[in-house]
Formats: sequence, C-alpha cells, structure tokens
Amino acid sequence: MFAYLIFLLAYLLGALPSAFLAGKIKNIDVRKHGSGNMGATNTFRVLGPLWGIGVLAADALKGVLAAYLCWLVFGPWGGIAGGLLAMLGHSFNPYFGFKRTGKGAACGLGVIVVLVPKVTIVALVVFILVVLVSRYVSLGSILAAVTVIIMAFVFQEPLEYKVLALVGASTVIFLHQSNIKRILNGTEAKFGKNKGE
Ligand code: G3P
Repeated sequence: MFAYLIFLLAYLLGALPSAFLAGKIKNIDVRKHGSGNMGATNTFRVLGPLWGIGVLAADALKGVLAAYLCWLVFGPWGGIAGGLLAMLGHSFNPYFGFKRTGKGAACGLGVIVVLVPKVTIVALVVFILVVLVSRYVSLGSILAAVTVIIMAFVFQEPLEYKVLALVGASTVIFLHQSNIKRILNGTEAKFGKNKGE
C-alpha cells in the first residue's frame, strides 16, 4: 500500500517548475515573456541558452526519475503510469492552481528514454531535422511526438508501450494547439529569434 505513494511522488516530481525557478533566480517571470510557456524552449528564448539547456535537462530528468522509480517498484505499467503522472504534474501544475503550465515535451523525452529507448532515438533524429529545417521547436516537438506513436508500432513494442506512446504523444500534440495556430498563421517564433507570442 505504502508503495503506491511513489505515484504521488512521480506527480509532484513532474510538477517541480524548473523554468519558473530558473526565472526566479534571474528575477524574470518566464510566464510573462515569449510564448509564456514554462518550458525549456521559452526559457532558452527568455533567459538564454545555458538556462534553456539547464531547464531541458531538469525537465527530462523529472521524466527519467518518475518513470524509472515507478518501473522499479511496479514494472512496465508502473513505469508508464509514473511517467504519465510526471507529465501531468508538469503540464497541469498543482503549485500553480492546476493551470496549464507546460507542454510535456522535455518531461516526456525523459520518460521515453527510460521505457522505449529505440523509439526515442528515431524521435530525436526527427526533432533535430525538423528544427534545423523549419526553425520551429514546436513543430519539431509535434512531429517527434507523431514519430513516437508510429515507431512504437514499427518496432512492435509491447502493448503497454504502445499505450504510453499513444497517450503521452497525443497529450504533447494536444498541448501544442496554440503553437499549431501560430505556425498556420505565420506568427510562431523561429528558434534563435528573441520573440514569441
Ligand atoms: O516543448 C515546447 C516547445 O515545443 C514549444 O515551446 O515556448 O515555443 O511554445 P514554446
């Protein structure tokens, strides 16, 4: 029974607002600048590359730890539940009144690194290529999420990992709705340019 508390820990771990905390150190509220998203891309945009990379690492680490610890205790389904709970905590943060606080891409990256590493490699290659060609990080995240779903089936991952891919990647795509609108109307900020919504 006590072991189930690990899922609460995974959720609260995912909710640690690394982008917000980085902004606090620099005395800048990342929610009020750029896209307003509490994620690595917006931190990179608002606070600079080092902070962006730091937040990317911290958010990915949240996903890694949540998925791995829950996997250790409860096996594959546990790892999936822990990973998805961390993404949920990251994106609908209890410390911020459960408002939408992130898009789950970096945290999700950490989860899939642990649970479906082969799929992750292909998704990362797609992400890098899309960002290099389009200069839209959001488009890279969206197409990498689509790749996660496709590759889970191509690599014939076990059912539980197909479920993870479908639920986790669909969530990431869903949370990028505002980016999709901006890409379509030509107002999405390109990577390396210091502007956002
Ligand atoms: O993971 C978030 C990224 O794909 C987009 O971030 O700040 O441009 O909305 P942002």
